[in-house]
Amino acid sequence: MTDWVDAGTLDDVWEGEMCAVSLGAVDVVLCHVDGEVHAYRDRCPHLANPLSPGELRDNLLTCPAHEWVFDARTGRGVNPEGTALHRLSVRVDGERILVHLGQLG
Ligand code: FES
Repeated sequence: MTDWVDAGTLDDVWEGEMCAVSLGAVDVVLCHVDGEVHAYRDRCPHLANPLSPGELRDNLLTCPAHEWVFDARTGRGVNPEGTALHRLSVRVDGERILVHLGQLG
């Protein structure tokens, strides 16, 4: 699948916020930090719990289950290091947020 999928608008996820969106069978968390929107699968690499009910503060996304911490700008693990979120490509077209699901779709 090569399509970009409509994931909402910039009004749905303001700067400093994150939100969950379901794109078909794929659950995604959008993070709006440092003026950019980033998209990740809404699944923690630890034990696959959803990240979206967690906390986003100072560009750090904390999983609510066991408090692993990730850099919301890159998806890289901060605590512990050596982990990473599954990152998805994002394009903003006007107000629309488009996410590329790649092989996930
Ligand atoms: S499932 Fe996210 S820290 Fe354990």
